[in-house]
Amino acid sequence: MVILKNFRILKFKSLPILKLKNVSKKYGKRTVLKKIDFELNNSEVFGLLGPNGCGKTTLFNLILGILKLDRGEIKVKNESLNELSIQDRATKFKIGYVPQNSSVFLGLTCEENIKSIAQICIKDKNLQEETTQRLLSEFNLEYLKNIKGSQLSGGEKKRLCISMALVNNPKILLLDEPFAALDLMTIDMIKKIITELQKKYISVIISDHNAKDLMSVSDRCVIISGGEIVASGNPRQIINDAQAKKLYFGENFSL
Ligand SMILES: Nc1ncnc2c1ncn2[C@@H]1O[C@H](COP(=O)(O)OP(=O)(O)OP(=O)(O)O)[C@@H](O)[C@H]1O
Ligand SMILES: [Mg+2]
Repeated sequence: MVILKNFRILKFKSLPILKLKNVSKKYGKRTVLKKIDFELNNSEVFGLLGPNGCGKTTLFNLILGILKLDRGEIKVKNESLNELSIQDRATKFKIGYVPQNSSVFLGLTCEENIKSIAQICIKDKNLQEETTQRLLSEFNLEYLKNIKGSQLSGGEKKRLCISMALVNNPKILLLDEPFAALDLMTIDMIKKIITELQKKYISVIISDHNAKDLMSVSDRCVIISGGEIVASGNPRQIINDAQAKKLYFGENFSL
């Protein structure tokens, strides 16, 4: 039994921060995403579920500008991102990203990893230092601060990677498999961090195969299968959805 978070936003008052309209993507002749539509609200935690290879990471890369859309439009605050560079999307619209493979600088220590991002994003030297120390503490990385990225365990690397994504105070944070291969207490810690981000009006999109933990922090979720959204709604709605059961959860899944 997974404890659901003690609040879930049912109605969002402000306009959506991110809108995807008719988003389609092919690799060569193979269509991976077709006509994906959804809106992300301010301060919303939005879950992306779907089988391996259904296009979740592709969708993140399209939002970030790492990949170009074939068709459709992605807007932040009603401004189209389609022609904007990765850099502009990150700086102007504050889109942050934690990739699936937790990439950190392997030759730098934990502290240097965070500081290197702070030196790019923050002008004031004192604030760079303050931010680095605050994140080391918030992510329980102080005891690892002199350890190189190459020597960290998978979970430690994941914590470091998320802390690095927060240096630039993102407004929209994309988390690709934040719970993968983590112990239960670290998963709880990351869920608490996500809930804290939501309280600070940050919108979060999470993709993960750990559907229970993902749904326990999400306000709404979608299931992608065969390149399309086949179910959407709050967690209780989608686990009872016939298509979602057929294409993703199976008959025996429960929260
Ligand atoms: N650069 C590429 N060229 C060709 N095919 C690609 C490329 N990148 C991804 N694909 C294919 O597109 C499909 C979607 O990949 P993607 O990584 O987006 O899936 P995913 O939903 O994130 O999967 P997982 O849950 O395993 O991480 C896969 O079948 C993958 O092989
Ligand atoms: Mg993926």
